[in-house]
Amino acid sequence: MRPAWAAIDLKALQHNLRLLREKAGHRQLLAILKANAYGHGLTRIAAELQQADAIGVARVDEALALRQEGIVKPIVLLEGFFEPSQLAVLAASQIQTVIHTEHQLVQLERAELNTPLKVWLKVDTGMHRIGVEPEETVAFYRRLQASDNVDGDPILMTHFASADTPEVEQNQQQLAVFNSLQDSLQARLSISNSAAFLADLAPQDNWVRPGLVLYGVSPFADRRGQQLGLKPVMTLQASIISTREIDQGESVGYGAAWTARHKTRIGILAIGYGDGYPRNAPEGTPVWIEGRCYPLVGRVSMDMLAVDLGLDSDIEIGATGVLWGPQLPVEEVAEHVGTISHELLCNVARRVVLDYGDEN
Ligand SMILES: Cc1ncc(COP(=O)(O)O)c(C=O)c1O
Repeated sequence: MRPAWAAIDLKALQHNLRLLREKAGHRQLLAILKANAYGHGLTRIAAELQQADAIGVARVDEALALRQEGIVKPIVLLEGFFEPSQLAVLAASQIQTVIHTEHQLVQLERAELNTPLKVWLKVDTGMHRIGVEPEETVAFYRRLQASDNVDGDPILMTHFASADTPEVEQNQQQLAVFNSLQDSLQARLSISNSAAFLADLAPQDNWVRPGLVLYGVSPFADRRGQQLGLKPVMTLQASIISTREIDQGESVGYGAAWTARHKTRIGILAIGYGDGYPRNAPEGTPVWIEGRCYPLVGRVSMDMLAVDLGLDSDIEIGATGVLWGPQLPVEEVAEHVGTISHELLCNVARRVVLDYGDEN
């Protein structure tokens, strides 16, 4: 028996990469590996990315961990540096930076670097999270071009607020803002995350930035990854460590939050919110065990959760439950929980063993 573990299917990853590579055609692929490669293991996933052109992360530490593991591919820091002291570190390790504020621009201009950095200039075309104002963009771009600390022409990037609903008007509004800048800059462009890429929202991209789809998961509410030809990479699993019969009216777990409506049998799986399984998963969230789904009942504990096995199943101690994976799409679990697959995947906790099947 095992507590929570996640089998990581590297063949599925390669399958997804091939599919994305084909779809990208002449466009380059910036594979997004932030948040521990969406819970799949940063350095191990990075080592499998022969088919990608560069890697995107959110923190300097993530970029340095990749370099320490001998990853030589270009790495892009998606929110750029946070402190000017990090600039020398980026230069020494050849890490590319996004610039999204005047603050960063000035610090970059003033820095004394041995090697210039490759830079991506992020424009706020309407998401209003990070990025320079459209009307300031041309001046920013020219300053970057003029700086000795910048290697070559910056790549111009933006990010959609609503790419997972490609039909909404905001996407076209953002694109119109971006396109008007491109008229004066003629820069290389990067616009699309997974959803925008699959929905062909921005075919003018030179660089696409897929994250979620690499891991085989759909960015759209109305389709699963498998319907898009993708294969889920992670199977989150745990063993059944206890079963018991309970009578009608008996409750299960903390706060007696669930009470049996009739006599039944409960199975306890060795996984809980301490492993990253969401504590707010409601009654009825499916768990797949030996060929079918059983409903979660009661509150998720730190190390355990309960499922209602019913009286007719022959599931015993030692059986393996799948919390999500090819048998039970993470998209479906996310729907039950009221969140997105991104959050479920990247919350998988450090104590969950990532099993790459190396011993086979
Ligand atoms: C700037 C940027 N590009 C691309 C991505 C990848 O997004 P997704 O996982 O939806 O493909 C992200 C992730 O949030 C991002 O912040």
